[in-house]
Amino acid sequence: MSRTADGGDSPLMVTGLLTDHAADPLGIDEERPRFSWRLGSDRRGVRQVAYRITVAVDPGAEVWDSGWMESSRQLGVEYDGAQLVSRTRYLWQLTVRTSDGNEASSALAFFETAFVSPSEWTGEWIGAVAMTPSVPAPLFRREFDIDGEVVRGRVYVSGLGYYELFVNGSRIGDSVLDPAWTDYRSRALYATHDVGANLRPGRNAIGVSLGNGWFEPMPSAVPSQLQPQVILELHLELADGETMSIVSRRGEWMATIDGPIGDHSIYGGETYDLRRELPGWAEPGFDTAASRARWRAATPVEPPGGVLRTQAMEPIRVVEELSPVTITRLSRDSQVVDFGQNFAGWVKIRLVGDTGKTVSVRHSELLGDDGAVNTVNLRTATATDRYVLDGQEPRWLEPHFTYHGFRYAQIDGYTPDLTPADVVGRVVRSAVPQIGRFRCSDPLLEQIHRNVVWTEGSNLHGLPTDCPQRDERLAWLNDMTVRAEQAVHNFGLARLYRKWFDDIVDTQGDVTGAIADTAPHARYGHRPADPVVSSFLLVPQLVHAHYGESRLIERGYENLARWVSYLASLRIEGIIEQSEIGDWAPPISEAVDGSAGSGAVSALTPGGLISTGFLYLNLMLMAGFARQLERDEDVGRYEAEADEVRGVINARYFDAERASYGPGNQSSNGFALYLGLVPEEHRGAVLEALVSDIEEHDFHLTTGNLCTKYVMDVLGRFGRADVALRLLTQRTYPSWGYMIEMGATTIWERWEHVTGGVLAGMGSHNHPMYGAVDSWFYRYLGGIAVVDEASGFGEVRIEPILVEGIDWVDCELETPRGVLASRWRRNGGRVEIDLTIPPNSTASILLPLAEGAFEDYEIREGDQPLGKGPATSIPGLGETAAERGGMRVLIGSGNYSFSITPLSAGAAAGDGAGQIEGRR
Ligand code: BGC
Repeated sequence: MSRTADGGDSPLMVTGLLTDHAADPLGIDEERPRFSWRLGSDRRGVRQVAYRITVAVDPGAEVWDSGWMESSRQLGVEYDGAQLVSRTRYLWQLTVRTSDGNEASSALAFFETAFVSPSEWTGEWIGAVAMTPSVPAPLFRREFDIDGEVVRGRVYVSGLGYYELFVNGSRIGDSVLDPAWTDYRSRALYATHDVGANLRPGRNAIGVSLGNGWFEPMPSAVPSQLQPQVILELHLELADGETMSIVSRRGEWMATIDGPIGDHSIYGGETYDLRRELPGWAEPGFDTAASRARWRAATPVEPPGGVLRTQAMEPIRVVEELSPVTITRLSRDSQVVDFGQNFAGWVKIRLVGDTGKTVSVRHSELLGDDGAVNTVNLRTATATDRYVLDGQEPRWLEPHFTYHGFRYAQIDGYTPDLTPADVVGRVVRSAVPQIGRFRCSDPLLEQIHRNVVWTEGSNLHGLPTDCPQRDERLAWLNDMTVRAEQAVHNFGLARLYRKWFDDIVDTQGDVTGAIADTAPHARYGHRPADPVVSSFLLVPQLVHAHYGESRLIERGYENLARWVSYLASLRIEGIIEQSEIGDWAPPISEAVDGSAGSGAVSALTPGGLISTGFLYLNLMLMAGFARQLERDEDVGRYEAEADEVRGVINARYFDAERASYGPGNQSSNGFALYLGLVPEEHRGAVLEALVSDIEEHDFHLTTGNLCTKYVMDVLGRFGRADVALRLLTQRTYPSWGYMIEMGATTIWERWEHVTGGVLAGMGSHNHPMYGAVDSWFYRYLGGIAVVDEASGFGEVRIEPILVEGIDWVDCELETPRGVLASRWRRNGGRVEIDLTIPPNSTASILLPLAEGAFEDYEIREGDQPLGKGPATSIPGLGETAAERGGMRVLIGSGNYSFSITPLSAGAAAGDGAGQIEGRR
């Protein structure tokens, strides 16, 4: 506690110190990491006015003192001290001053460097035997002596495709499927593990198990790189001040391919033979000569080629466990487990049986009429784990180097009855925090939200994948164009998206600037990418606006500019006709019969409109980035070019008489409205055309997986949330409600309920794209509008729409500055709105009032009446102003409770709709 200027006690606190978005990270390899922190105060209107950061090498030599900086900045403050040294712990601390006259200091935080320069690695890449690819998972081991007490022990390791690390027999860390996939020819990621507590004076052993990981889906890799390989360094500090290191090197390590993990792949599953286990293989004293397995000296291999970079993001972990809802016996040898939820991960199962007996676990999203798993939509992914038993005690078993997308698991070859106590669903994903919460009075909307969150969570595995089950699991940029806005509301993706942005840059050709459809680019997707891949620009924008991370824009600016100019060069008479994806996967009746991917190309929405429209969006985004980076010349250039593109699109596709774009279908009009292409004077009419088309389809969408989001957004933005709500509460095909009626617990790839037939190959039941709608709940029902220019919610607009049919909404976001919450409820004729604004943020709230005089309402904050006027005397409240459809109030941080009570029967509280025109 510190004393405030007015003499009261202020609980101002400085907490949540992060280095590059992580608390006390090991393994930093940035030359200038960036710091952020949070202020804690229950006072209103708290603003930071100054900060001071000091950084010192443990235990005390100062390397940076920022001095007092008069700045409200609390996110992304860049280290600017002496050059950082590898494998060193730095302590940092911070003092801030706030506008209410308080000063508070944080506790000590730290970050620890790994290899500041990749050239400092001295270990070498080693493999098991010169074979490609290695089918059984190789094991590596090394023994060594430690002459004294260990005070610090770190392992830096990259094991490709995936590795598991053991020290003295113990599995190190809780990451799985590590490291995250990258194009190893450009970049391979390494992890840092604290192993100090696992080491002891005397003899020690280190072991590594390697899986194929993503080598298989990456056919473009040169054959010599197809071999699992590991590079590792162990660095120790001893109590007497001595240091020592053990590194991966040919001849010094032993390797075998005779371990228990046999055939294994991401898509295929894993075979684990208990009879082939090698007890003690990662412990000291294990006798390789006497071992059942053949151990040989590890061999040098051709390195993957890419630069070694730290894995600066949350690793993949088991984040949750599910219990079976039912276990059904199909036959003497076969039982089916239903987890009641579609998810990504695997089954952990307790088995016992005769030696040599094989039990298999097959995964599926669907059941056939016979109650058995229906795997028709997995394409070539066999998704089967197998365990060969050894006749010993019951054992809990799970795979190591594969994962599956499934709700059902069929256990074959096992006769004892399985009970829920024998089977666990292990939910596996990048362990990013869940930061969004949405609840409301309509259970169907809540269920849609739940399904979206499960879908998004099932598709975060070091990259944002399209699906977790079939032979794909790639990060399609077109999917991310609409999906990313939903995702940044629900999960903390600052680090994962930063890594993925690098993956995209890795696909960029030097000459043309063209990027690929998928990143990493493997198996599917073209280069040059389809013009719909605006996620390359949207991700940096969202990462800045939501998480306060601007390095993607700063460092990626030239890459983005090159892609956009490549796209612009594709225009013929102003239009990019090239379009392979377009508004993908609309209802089958709207698609070109038999088009790529079984009827996925829109028959109606012109590819040229979509492709050129995205060029317009990109140019506008570039203008925004240029403004942010103060590249004034570029701002003008991009804006002028955008204007020109808008003119050409309107000349080609807009028919003023019909107030419609292209054929006037929902997608064409929705997209044009969303982008802001429509001339102001025609906007109302185009909106009307869109709404009539929706009505003609009895409140059903005809849109594909891009334009669905855009239609929903414009209905919210331009005052037709009522129509949006009808679409959201629809329960017949095509709609989200229909998916739920059919038992969906996640979002499907298509509007159709695909259980076989020609669409089976496109029948993912866990596909995020139609889940893009979820940002609508936060944006329009919760009313939380991020201000793009204000990094990490430094400013926010709150403009809830009190749409008829919804009685209450409860929305919460964990922003980098703290919790931001927007809640409203109807209470008789009165509307109550509760807000929480994080410290060092300001909000502009639009209190929804029906047209008419403010005198018709009693508006209060707490028990204080609120008048119209330049400033109020209520703490935390700034200006209030009348605006069409509401009263705008500026507020600072803190908790607020507004109520709006109509004074006469005629003056029902407004719905807030239609007041936010002109926003993105
Ligand atoms: C993916 C989609 C992607 C599409 C593009 C599909 O196989 O699953 O999400 O957008 O291909 O062609």
